[in-house]
Amino acid sequence: MRQVRTLGLLGTGVIGGGWAARALHFGVDVVAADVKPEMEGWIRGAVANAEDALARLTLAPLPPKGRLSFTTDLHAMARQADFIQENIPEQPDLKRRVLADVSRHCAADVIIASSTSGIMPSELQTDMQYPERFLVAHPFNPVYLLPLVELVGGKLTTPATLEAAAVFYRYIGMHALTVRREIPGHLTDRLQEALWREILHMVNDGVATTGELDDSIIYGPGLRWAGMGTNLIYHLAGGETGMRHMLRQFGPALKWPWTKLEAPELTEGLIDRMVEGTQAQAAGRSIRELERLRDDYLVAIQQVLRQFNIGAGSTLRALEERLYAESAAKGGGKIASGVAAGDKGPLRVLEVQVRPEWVDYNGHMTDSRFLQVFGDATDALWRYAGVDDAYRKSGRALFTVESHVVHKAEARALEPLYVASEVLEVDSKRVRLRHHLHRASDDTLIATAEQLYLHVATLPQPARAAPLDEGVRARLAALAGRRT
Ligand SMILES: NC(=O)c1ccc[n+]([C@@H]2O[C@H](COP(=O)([O-])OP(=O)(O)OC[C@H]3O[C@@H](n4cnc5c(N)ncnc54)[C@H](O)[C@@H]3O)[C@@H](O)[C@H]2O)c1
Repeated sequence: MRQVRTLGLLGTGVIGGGWAARALHFGVDVVAADVKPEMEGWIRGAVANAEDALARLTLAPLPPKGRLSFTTDLHAMARQADFIQENIPEQPDLKRRVLADVSRHCAADVIIASSTSGIMPSELQTDMQYPERFLVAHPFNPVYLLPLVELVGGKLTTPATLEAAAVFYRYIGMHALTVRREIPGHLTDRLQEALWREILHMVNDGVATTGELDDSIIYGPGLRWAGMGTNLIYHLAGGETGMRHMLRQFGPALKWPWTKLEAPELTEGLIDRMVEGTQAQAAGRSIRELERLRDDYLVAIQQVLRQFNIGAGSTLRALEERLYAESAAKGGGKIASGVAAGDKGPLRVLEVQVRPEWVDYNGHMTDSRFLQVFGDATDALWRYAGVDDAYRKSGRALFTVESHVVHKAEARALEPLYVASEVLEVDSKRVRLRHHLHRASDDTLIATAEQLYLHVATLPQPARAAPLDEGVRARLAALAGRRT
């Protein structure tokens, strides 16, 4: 597949805006196309709104942000795009017609994906020029924070298209879940609809209010669902014999049944109860305020799940590992090419840009970010020396024992910086480093950090000092000669 430098968006409403924010944040340019010219202002606002939460998702070094452009000329968008994501209204005839038209204006190797919530890909691809490169890629609102994207191929879609699309979605931090067989509603909306249908029944029958039904989820099953799905949770609920016991115990109840399969009639009375109920829950807060609250806790939950390496947290962890590795490869490439006999001076190990949220009330990079940047520089140096994820998994790590930061000048928002590092001393268990943080435009020294690290065996706990791997020590020792 061609490398995706530019994502084309077809339709720039709620979902198009979410795709734009996510792609731009992870360094992909976006050409957004909508039939309504006023959507340009809307999508720019949506991207700006998303940025606040997105910026807090990870501290890993990000590539420069992508650039956003807007057009009402769908064909012009198609000519510029490396990958197209369609997000127009959920109307099969409209989608089929627009997809067929756009497919005639893009390069032959461009993948086109539809965000449709429930239409099967085989229904949409028939009139397209290259139907084999079409798939459904169903995201979840807010697209910029929820990593799930369901990938569904139609009768004419090739497996290579699904694989290439998954590579792209992973690149922008998503979890690509490939659905084995197309069905209306894919997987998630089928499940969500079943729950929603029951909610409508219970509100209609006067059993509970919308707020009480939401409480029945958020204080209980909802907390479990973020880390383990219904099936694994029920396996645990079955005690020692797990799912087998669970099915034996509750299987009969499935036959009674507790639930109703048909949706209730959407009468005016039911609609009023649903609307009044949710307005009472909103308690005067605007949609914008509630979105901000939702985004804040979605970021926080993913950061918690990352510690346990489960669910959306494992997607975030994998993304961060890639971002750190790419950043280290940029600096590390220079390390590798720079380490020649007779070379002198600190090695450039990290390139970074001061992100807007890193600056404090003075407009300067805030103290904690200096430690973060120096920490990332140390990680880059460790990677070069062979201390990577596999090394850590083998039960060995380098712990920070001392940091001494000296500030010389200010760093302002969006300034490109680089870190050059020296190995001052290395013995069997300790490594002493000095980092030099420079402004990239004129090489001004911004700060230095001298840090002492202790090599430890982390297994079994508690961690204790232990000799460095000989190969790691040799690589660091080779750098120790390169003093200023
Ligand atoms: N809203 C959700 O929660 C959600 C979640 C996942 C998937 N989806 C799917 O995403 C798609 C878009 O949903 P949405 O909520 O963003 O809708 P929306 O109404 O907010 O946006 C649709 C946009 O498409 C534009 N449009 C209409 N006709 C067009 C055409 N011919 N060419 C180009 N643009 C055109 C409209 O001007 C509008 O800006 C739907 O298929 C929906 O099922 C929605």
